[in-house]
Amino acid sequence: MTPSPRPWLNRNLPLFTRIESVLGAMTLDEKIGQMWQVNSFEVNRDDLIRAGRIGSFLNIPRDEIARIQRIAVEESRLGIPLIVGRDVIHGYRTVFPIPLGQAASFNPEIVRLGAEIAAREAAADGIHWTFAPMVDIARDPRWGRIAESLGEDPVLSARLGVAMVKGFQSDDPSAPESIASCVKHYVGYGAAEGGRDYNTTLIPESELRNIYLEPFRACSEAGALSFMSAFNDLNGVPTSGNAHTIRDILKTEWGFEGLVVSDWCSVTEMIKHGYARDEAEAAERGIAAGVDMEMVSESYPKHASALLSSGQLRPEWIDDAVRRILRVKFALGLFDNPYPAAPRPEVFVSEPHLRAARQSALESCVLLKNNGVLPLRENQLKRIAVIGPLADDRSEQRGCWVSDGHVEDTQTPLAALRQMLPPSVTIDVARGVPACRSADTSGFADAVAAACAADVALLFLGEDAILSGEAHSRAFLNLPGAQQQLLEAVAATGKPVVLVIMAGRPLVLTPVLPHASALLYAWHPGAMGGPAIVDLLLGRESPSGKLPVSFPAMEGQIPIYYNKRNTGRPASDATRGIPQGTPLDPVDFCSNYLDGDHLPLFPFGFGLSYTRFDYQNLSLAAAEVHSDGVIEASVELRNTGPVAGTEIVQLYIRDVSASLTRPVRELKDFRRVTLAAGESQRVTFRLPASQLSFHDNQGTLHLEPGEFHLWIGGDSRCTGEAAFRLLAG
Ligand code: GLC
Repeated sequence: MTPSPRPWLNRNLPLFTRIESVLGAMTLDEKIGQMWQVNSFEVNRDDLIRAGRIGSFLNIPRDEIARIQRIAVEESRLGIPLIVGRDVIHGYRTVFPIPLGQAASFNPEIVRLGAEIAAREAAADGIHWTFAPMVDIARDPRWGRIAESLGEDPVLSARLGVAMVKGFQSDDPSAPESIASCVKHYVGYGAAEGGRDYNTTLIPESELRNIYLEPFRACSEAGALSFMSAFNDLNGVPTSGNAHTIRDILKTEWGFEGLVVSDWCSVTEMIKHGYARDEAEAAERGIAAGVDMEMVSESYPKHASALLSSGQLRPEWIDDAVRRILRVKFALGLFDNPYPAAPRPEVFVSEPHLRAARQSALESCVLLKNNGVLPLRENQLKRIAVIGPLADDRSEQRGCWVSDGHVEDTQTPLAALRQMLPPSVTIDVARGVPACRSADTSGFADAVAAACAADVALLFLGEDAILSGEAHSRAFLNLPGAQQQLLEAVAATGKPVVLVIMAGRPLVLTPVLPHASALLYAWHPGAMGGPAIVDLLLGRESPSGKLPVSFPAMEGQIPIYYNKRNTGRPASDATRGIPQGTPLDPVDFCSNYLDGDHLPLFPFGFGLSYTRFDYQNLSLAAAEVHSDGVIEASVELRNTGPVAGTEIVQLYIRDVSASLTRPVRELKDFRRVTLAAGESQRVTFRLPASQLSFHDNQGTLHLEPGEFHLWIGGDSRCTGEAAFRLLAG
């Protein structure tokens, strides 16, 4: 076959010209072919590739990528290269902490570095495109995918989502070590009713824009090359058929020029949603809404052509979709360098990569309780008991999206203790329970005996990785299996108990806390979680992590999040319960529970250190600011404790009264500050007044004059408030 002339291969031509020259040469079938993504190799698709009827694959091994790319580029009529995607969610071969753990670092740089390393390793395996970052706001720890999220706050999720986009794509997405990002799941997926994955979401426009859309907007602005529509029904319109969110907001209002890929079969699932009669209508809904590429299901290749002929689809929708797909392929350099580079096995789990994963895990751990038992005094230790199913489990500690990590690369806490403790310290190991969800208590006796003989018992408990992630939601958030009983049995020995929890979500720790002298929350810390945790237990580093999500005191509080509204009868601590014999007259009409606290066990932004930080002299540069001005607020931060430490200083505001009720607190900025013992520093934030704006239920942005309160502190319940007024004009 004599290849047609291909002017688009001329690198000197402007991108627009290159795209239009390909588009102009394509048949309708070839255009529709670009809009279909096929999963791995259920059946041989070589003929379809050769015919230009497939634009993308996912989950393809490296050697197959080269083979199918050669067919696409050298045997098809126009030689349009394939784009190959993969879920590279928290590392590729070097497994980093789950994204929720990374979010606890409040450190965009370490998060960006993790994505950069993941891109380097994935690109070395020929992958062009990752389906990350996931920036769904997650306020419900029952939802299994909270593990993949960056937490409950829009500012934190936006900053860290952007960091991942930059890490994956670098400044040059066509560079050999860059891959395209894919911001997901657009939008509102985390608001699933009941915390059950894939469930219905009902989100008013103002909440959608002020909370759920904000991280996506930031990632679009940062140049993300693709978005992924979601599974959820948003206010009656499935997000993979939602023209309002995709065409109106993402593509028109924000000017997004990348491509939108559906989630796995989320186009044809609109039939089950009751939003499409059949696959033809599903295809029509998807394309009309602006979903440019269909992942795995086949409604586009089967029906798009007929829908065009019947006038149910506009040709410009097809052309717009294909332009976007071609634009991403050009941006990745696939037309210029379509084939995987020579293998570079040396990049996988290299020393620098493992060091970064260790640092990421170190910064993601959150110290929730410490009665002084931590840090362990190595020179005073003679015998320790290491107990629990997660002390030495190289698979479970890695978390819920680890398709390409190798188990043998994991370093567990037990391995790290053995490596890092002096030989003078005896380490007794007792698993206690066979696995996280096991009810078998036959191992308790050994665990109790080990604790009795030890100076300190180190317990590693939590969730196995399968209990979080996609389709893995939980109705109860306790320690699974017999772990609570194991904790209590060990605590009953009277020995100090240092509890390390690995989990993919906030657990309800109310029954746990009384039995632990110290509690370190490690999430699922990834391949280097072991050394990172031991660095902290031995005091070689001081914990700095802060909670990216609220921890409920009980499941009945859920959903619970810090940036809540005040209500007309805010809950108070005064009234709890109904004393026996209380008359039916009102005890107290406020938004309390009779049988439980209304406050989270641990608030958003909370985390302890081995030192103490004191906030003094909160001051504002001015008591009034104009809408085009900047609020300058500062505080004196002092390390009043015994060792150096890093504090994540957080700035919150409250709009006291507006045309819509506003949250009682909103995080607007944060900063990591490292101080030596005794050292102090004035920390200053400059917040543009425009950041005080909010959307109403018509999607209109408001910046309203009036009174604002402002806090700077170490968590979302910090005290010491300042006030300022925003002036009109
Ligand atoms: C899954 C997930 C999505 C993932 C995609 C490809 O169902 O919802 O996050 O990227 O399919 O594996």
